[in-house]
Amino acid sequence: MITATTIEEARKTIKKWKAEGLTVGLVPTMGALHDGHASLVTAAVSDCDRVVTSVFVNPTQFGEGEDLESYPRDFERDCKILEEKGCHMVFHPSVQEMYPDGYGTYVNLESEMTKQLCGRSRPGHFRGVCTVVSKLFNITTPDRAYFGQKDAQQLAVIRRMVKDMDFDIEIVGCPTVREKDGLAKSSRNSYLNDEERQAAAVLYRSIEKAKELAAAGASGTSEASAADPHSIAAADLLKTMTDVVSSEPMARIDYIEAVDGHTLMPKEYLAPGDLVAMAVYIGDTRLIDNFTI
Ligand code: PAF
Repeated sequence: MITATTIEEARKTIKKWKAEGLTVGLVPTMGALHDGHASLVTAAVSDCDRVVTSVFVNPTQFGEGEDLESYPRDFERDCKILEEKGCHMVFHPSVQEMYPDGYGTYVNLESEMTKQLCGRSRPGHFRGVCTVVSKLFNITTPDRAYFGQKDAQQLAVIRRMVKDMDFDIEIVGCPTVREKDGLAKSSRNSYLNDEERQAAAVLYRSIEKAKELAAAGASGTSEASAADPHSIAAADLLKTMTDVVSSEPMARIDYIEAVDGHTLMPKEYLAPGDLVAMAVYIGDTRLIDNFTI
């Protein structure tokens, strides 16, 4: 596996691959790799001739008071995982390489979708994500780029950006990888102490309950479901999830919402493809999860 720390080095090798007619897959990450990232690399390796994984903790997507400084970093371990998974190049630039002095251009999706869900408590977050992902697209010129469905809003925002900016890149969304008790794999899980780690399983328990309800045709008792028994009443699912999460004393809900899977605007009645998403604090750690109807 090649390690490239400069844009020039990465471009040189990727241009050579492309000249040989090879296809390139990009897996953008912030490192601290877990099985979720590994599954993205595995998907990329099976679809593409060459795979580039970027490992870059992107400062522009962290807000004030967020965990930029404490975000877990272990580049050596990341490289071992990437080698094992068959990645061909790790792109690991410095902050100065990506945002040199005088840097001033940002990519901002100005639609309502970046202001919903996580956008409400993390203003500016998706501007930072869109900026760095655009830069990574321009540097690595991939045929396909791989993102986890756990970050459902990020995936929807990137799909929109790719469409708006005419990036000729296929965006591949990959399923969330979970721990045995259902907790979605996340680099931030490492912040949880033992007690918090146990409590964190409540997110998935609430999702399972909501899925049961959705599968039963949301035959709930709310006014919403009584009004239209053929579609799933968001109010029923959200109440169920809120009740389950609230039963865990260590959990504090940031949001649990039901939205259109593409526009991310709230919906009262849900159809296939719509998204039920949540952010919940367990202690000081903010965890996200979701499921698609
Ligand atoms: O999902 C992440 O880890 C990051 O938001 C991404 C896409 C690598 C951009 O920094």
